[in-house]
Amino acid sequence: MKTFSITKELVRVLKKERDTGRSVGFVPTMGALHEGHLSLLEESKKHNDITVCSIFVNPIQFNQKQDLEKYPRNLNEDLRLLLSVDCNYVFVPTEEEVYPGGIPELNLNLGRLDRVLEGKFRPGHFKGVAIVVKQLFDIVNPDKAYFGKKDYQQLLIIQHMVSELNLRIQIIPGPTLREHDGLAMSSRNLRLTIGEREVAPMIYETLCKVRDKAGEMPVKELKQWAIRKINSNSLFQVEYLEIVDKDDLHPIGSWKEKNNAITCTAVFLGDVRLIDNIELFS
Ligand code: PAF
Repeated sequence: MKTFSITKELVRVLKKERDTGRSVGFVPTMGALHEGHLSLLEESKKHNDITVCSIFVNPIQFNQKQDLEKYPRNLNEDLRLLLSVDCNYVFVPTEEEVYPGGIPELNLNLGRLDRVLEGKFRPGHFKGVAIVVKQLFDIVNPDKAYFGKKDYQQLLIIQHMVSELNLRIQIIPGPTLREHDGLAMSSRNLRLTIGEREVAPMIYETLCKVRDKAGEMPVKELKQWAIRKINSNSLFQVEYLEIVDKDDLHPIGSWKEKNNAITCTAVFLGDVRLIDNIELFS
């Protein structure tokens, strides 16, 4: 495994790999790696000759300075995990290396995708994600890139970007990995206190109940029921919980649209903001 921090050096090495006919798989991350990331890396290892992982905490996707500052960073442990899955190249750039000419413009119409759910509560977040992913794609030039379904809206936005910009990159979704008690794996889980961590599985438990009860009561009532259920523990504060269409994220009004529905939520547990989702009929 080789680690790079200079863009030009990584580009040179990857060009050589490509010139010898090797395919490149790419897993972009912000570090604090967990099994969810490792499963994406393992998929990439299976289907590509070379696997590249980037670790870059992208400042422009954080709409709150505090969130950026508190984002967990643990490079040594990350490198150890990357070695354990036999990742070929790790890219750990500085901001200068990612944005050498300053933050670039990206003309991309994300439409509704950027206005609802996360987009509504974290203005500018997805623009920052799209810009960094495009920069990283330009550097790594992968054949395939891997994104987890836990960040479902992010996955849709990246797919949308790839199709709008006609990029020749296949986006491969990976399943949400969960702890033994159902909590979706996330780098942010590291910031939970012991007490918060104990109650955290309630988010997924409630999402499972929404899936089980879907069709039994009107959509709006089920949604209100789920919000009340999570908020019934005072450690939680639901920011949103929506039952939406899986493709364009419009809120579904009736169970006639149920076959394509997904429930997405963002919940504060103390001051840690967790997101999760569940497909209702898969
Ligand atoms: O999902 C993440 O970790 C980040 O949003 C990504 C895709 C690496 C862009 O910074």
